[in-house]
Amino acid sequence: MKSERSREPLWREEFSIFQADERYVSRRQLTKFLTLTSLAMFAGNFWILVKSWIRAGVSYPVRTVAQAEEIPVGGVKLFEYPGPQDQCILLRPSENSYVAYSQKCTHLSCAVFYSAQNRRLECPCHQGYFSIEDGSVLQGPPTRPLPKVILERRGAELVAIRVQESPEGR
Ligand code: FES
Repeated sequence: MKSERSREPLWREEFSIFQADERYVSRRQLTKFLTLTSLAMFAGNFWILVKSWIRAGVSYPVRTVAQAEEIPVGGVKLFEYPGPQDQCILLRPSENSYVAYSQKCTHLSCAVFYSAQNRRLECPCHQGYFSIEDGSVLQGPPTRPLPKVILERRGAELVAIRVQESPEGR
């Protein structure tokens, strides 16, 4: 009759670690893994919190971007807001409605343009389409709506007051 030890595989006989020590190492590795994972999750949540603080603290300039009557019904005007590098597009879909969005596609940042024929904003790079009603995605690949420029009508002037970013993950 063979002894208990002789039934073990050859590699176990040649690998001089006792089973009890093996468990100890696994437990330590698991603890290390859980600790690192917890730290990574903490860092990720902290980063999201910092981003939301930064976003909440952003103040936008109040700026006249157009005279209401300079844009014909169905027409557009391009402008920069809030900074000189931030291209936006202002539309007048009907007599008394004006809407403005960032012109930067939320997919890979190509410039969107207004298609009067299809009544939507179109991105020529990968055929992403956006609604002119609220900037939402009508056709991918973009997954997030266009940031909307909030406008106020002050007499004959259209004034941009802030940018409404899309919620994360939309
Ligand atoms: S960059 Fe606009 S759809 Fe890809």
